[in-house]
Amino acid sequence: MKALVVPSSTTKKISDIKLVDTDKPVIKEDEVMIKVHALGLNPVDYKLVEGHNSAWNYPHIIGLDTAGEIVSVGSNNPKNFQIGDRVFFHGDLAKDGVFAEFAKSKYNSVARIPDNVKYEEAAAILCSGLTAYQAIFRKMSLAGKKTILIHAGAGGVGTIAIQLAKIAGLTVITTVSEHKKNIVASLGADYIIDYRHENIDDRIDEITNSNGVDLIINDIGNPEADLPRLAYNGGLICILNTPDINDYNLSSQGQSVLSLNLGGVHQSGYPDQLDDLATMAESLVELISDKKLNPAITKVIKFEDIPAGLAELSEHKTIGKIIATI
Ligand SMILES: NC(=O)c1ccc[n+]([C@@H]2O[C@H](COP(=O)([O-])OP(=O)(O)OC[C@H]3O[C@@H](n4cnc5c(N)ncnc54)[C@H](OP(=O)(O)O)[C@@H]3O)[C@@H](O)[C@H]2O)c1
Repeated sequence: MKALVVPSSTTKKISDIKLVDTDKPVIKEDEVMIKVHALGLNPVDYKLVEGHNSAWNYPHIIGLDTAGEIVSVGSNNPKNFQIGDRVFFHGDLAKDGVFAEFAKSKYNSVARIPDNVKYEEAAAILCSGLTAYQAIFRKMSLAGKKTILIHAGAGGVGTIAIQLAKIAGLTVITTVSEHKKNIVASLGADYIIDYRHENIDDRIDEITNSNGVDLIINDIGNPEADLPRLAYNGGLICILNTPDINDYNLSSQGQSVLSLNLGGVHQSGYPDQLDDLATMAESLVELISDKKLNPAITKVIKFEDIPAGLAELSEHKTIGKIIATI
């Protein structure tokens, strides 16, 4: 089968990715194999190309997000998957990935795609969509909360987080570069801050009458800057790194800091949380099926062009999601 690989432990650039012919995966009893139709590109893909994972063997197949049809099913099949089922999943970064003609996964994290949802749409809401979903509907307590600050609103995580926050009834404040304002406005953001030209703290004071925001999703780093933006009882979800709180008194305002590491579930091996990956994916894809969620696909590329797509992502040139088809 065709696959995109990092050839060796010393090749660490996007330009080192090679298109090769390799063997199809072999499934274990608790796995399913799919013929891949669509692939989602994420920053974690190029970060792994640059940083590798200590568990990799080489050549290593890259890629984590895929949608396709089941071609084989292991003997341990409690979800009753059948050959031909349309499914999608977010893979394990320590194992061979999904940027290939065929890919496999443990059954737990595999979710079905409704008939009226395209493979491309399903592949678009995995790493980024699941992260947004987990942040808003798993990590945060929404009771009594009214406002949320979502950084990088035009990114993969941000585009879905804005829509989910609106579904949850929150007032959404988001930060973007000026040329990315249109998409966040179309997705329902209530207040848009051009973070390169405006003072975020001043704008938040103005929007919240100096009360601060109830909830913040930090997917850009430097979470220390977000702490003083929190309201009393506010919560900060950190997707990249957690803040140093030595010089900040969280408890005086009853505030909380939480971390989120979507892919870490595979390393944890905790079956309930692996199952939850599929449960969250099913909830997201149902929202697409019901026309309540826009997967924000702005570009569909060919499989062979994935390295160029990853380069665009690494240069922050993308808006929403890039999807590849095979
Ligand atoms: N921990 C996890 O489980 C997890 C899961 C998913 C994603 N992530 C991470 O979360 C980050 C976002 O993912 P993504 O898929 O949304 O990436 P993305 O689609 O590449 O979007 C990221 C966008 O952030 C914007 N940005 C950069 N610095 C900013 C700043 N200071 N303020 C506001 N916006 C800024 C950039 O747009 P501009 O042109 O506007 O600067 C960039 O395009 C990535 O680093 C990713 O690796 C982590």
